[in-house]
Amino acid sequence: METSPVARGLSSRFVAGSSLDEALAACVRIRGEGISATLDYLGENVHTLDEARACRDMYVRMLDALHGAGIEPNVSLKLTQFGLDLSTGACEENVAMLVERAASLNGFVRIDMEASQYTDRTLSIVTRLHERFGACGTVIQSYLLRSAADVEMLIERGIRVRLCKGAYLEPPTVAFSAKSEVDRSYLHLAGRLLEAGLYPAIATHDEQMIEGVKRFASNHGIGKERFELQMLYGIRRDLQRQLVAEGYRLRLYVPFGEAWYPYFMRRLAERPANVLFLARNLMRS
Ligand code: FDA
Repeated sequence: METSPVARGLSSRFVAGSSLDEALAACVRIRGEGISATLDYLGENVHTLDEARACRDMYVRMLDALHGAGIEPNVSLKLTQFGLDLSTGACEENVAMLVERAASLNGFVRIDMEASQYTDRTLSIVTRLHERFGACGTVIQSYLLRSAADVEMLIERGIRVRLCKGAYLEPPTVAFSAKSEVDRSYLHLAGRLLEAGLYPAIATHDEQMIEGVKRFASNHGIGKERFELQMLYGIRRDLQRQLVAEGYRLRLYVPFGEAWYPYFMRRLAERPANVLFLARNLMRS
């Protein structure tokens, strides 16, 4: 799939290109619309530590290139891409090198949250790196039963959180399965994060969640500059424009690279209409 020209054409709806230059051009373009970016080099679950180190080197180049282009050096990464399946210690040192560079450039590294088998290790690594360098934060998924406790732990340590619903298939022993429960948890956690005042990132395309967050902020006198909304590149562009026009801060998660297949499949799975979009385009080509 990743090398097929037809599939590559389709993925361009959600992926900002295969090279760093294309991704930088996308960041510049969206900045022109008043939107900031966090850059993600696609890839997860690497098979060798050499691959993990190559990923780290790419991320260092990304920070430097963003800085050089006068764009805030802000990146998002997955620990399995930095070698978490192979060696926790090597993974942590790879990420440490990056966070140290980000700190020196006044940038920020967001450590994405993957499936629940990685949650404990991710939180431990983030906590240690934050203590060493600052300049990093992580992601909390509202579908996990444990997230309320994790949010309190992160608030206590002053670690910035991006809140999302969660994108992996999880069993009912660890995650809420009903949308209503995931949404209730989302609004509860968003309220805690907004109250705590550590500049949370509210990542969702769900208008009800966004309305709930806007209402909470305005009822509690929390200004629009004290949090940011985040969305994925290519999703709900209408809503993105509307929120910027209303004066909210918006950051897009901008993925690029060759290894787009797992990311693309998660985006398709989130919305049946996307599968129809894929099927229609495959039939046409
Ligand atoms: P929900 O899935 O309920 O969708 C609400 C509405 O949004 C839909 O009705 C539709 O209109 C629109 N929508 C949502 N997804 C769409 C799609 N793929 N295509 C078109 N329309 C769509 N997850 C994770 O587990 N770990 C992480 O680190 C991150 N990081 C992250 C960063 C950012 C910036 C965002 C926005 C999201 C993530 N996610 C994530 C993904 C997140 O967990 C979740 O899977 C998606 O955001 C979809 O959930 P929504 O909150 O948008 O709501």
